Amino acid sequence: MKQTVYVTKKLPEELYRRLSIQFEVRMWGEEETPVPREILLKEVAEVDGLYCFITDTIDREVFERAKKLKMVSTCSVGYNHIDVQAAAEKGVKVGYTPGVLTETTADLTFALLMATARRVVEASDILHNGKWGSWSLMQMTGQDIYGATMGIIGLGRIGEALVKRAKGFDMKVLYNSRSRKPEKEEELGIEYADLKSLLQQSDFVCLMLPYSAEVHHLIGKEELALMKKNAILINTARGGIVDEDALSDALKNGVIWGAGIDVFEQEPVSLDNPLLTLPNVVALPHIGSASVKTRLGMAHMAADNLIHVLNGNVGKANVVG
Ligand code: DGY
Repeated sequence: MKQTVYVTKKLPEELYRRLSIQFEVRMWGEEETPVPREILLKEVAEVDGLYCFITDTIDREVFERAKKLKMVSTCSVGYNHIDVQAAAEKGVKVGYTPGVLTETTADLTFALLMATARRVVEASDILHNGKWGSWSLMQMTGQDIYGATMGIIGLGRIGEALVKRAKGFDMKVLYNSRSRKPEKEEELGIEYADLKSLLQQSDFVCLMLPYSAEVHHLIGKEELALMKKNAILINTARGGIVDEDALSDALKNGVIWGAGIDVFEQEPVSLDNPLLTLPNVVALPHIGSASVKTRLGMAHMAADNLIHVLNGNVGKANVVG
């Protein structure tokens, strides 16, 4: 008898077919609306594998409902939406998708940085709203990118890929991470800085670290106050790393110059969020990895992880821990 898998969003046909060759697949029929909690809890009770996304909260209650679950495979590199401790206690493997989205996410991070520094969205709005007037000397002036200092917090795969883009713009790069990485300093031409110095010296502060309880609101009022008045904060990691109230105050009061944000504490972000009302914020709907090739690559990798684990080849899967 085939093992059973529940998929929490509608998958492209090719992926559905691939999984169906191996497993009895049940799937939530929507692409954009996450599976309702009560359906997730009901479905997970009877399956061997769960294929999920960052929009699903896979907490202890989910694992407690599961009777024979062996694997949760998320179609994402981040797995902060999964209680990995509860999974481990139940002997459930957690799969994720490292590597495949690195360059695409670094591209978007740099695009967001450029759009924020050069006020691309605001300038485009002015044109479309008929407010261009005429060319004037200081109209829509932004911040230079070439030759500026970038501070990267979190030097994982995506952080490193971002360094390569920064180097193409002759930027000085500082980094801060849990442990110092002397071999990377040499290889990439970057300097380690403690968090305070990095915040004080950088023109662009880019958050490139995974979310965990230890880094909740790592960037708050005090940290923002350390930054330069012309500095820009870029967050393509996770919303919870930044205290959004402190950030919107800092942006309103000229404590920092601008922010490019692809991730929010609550997603989808409410239109009432004060950050969305500020002209010096470029806000995007969590699209860091959103290229056709990369999203399909992630979806296939998550399927591979599930197939490997359910077939007893854990060693071939990308699993946490
Ligand atoms: C991830 O993979 O964790 C991103 O946030 C979504 O691509």
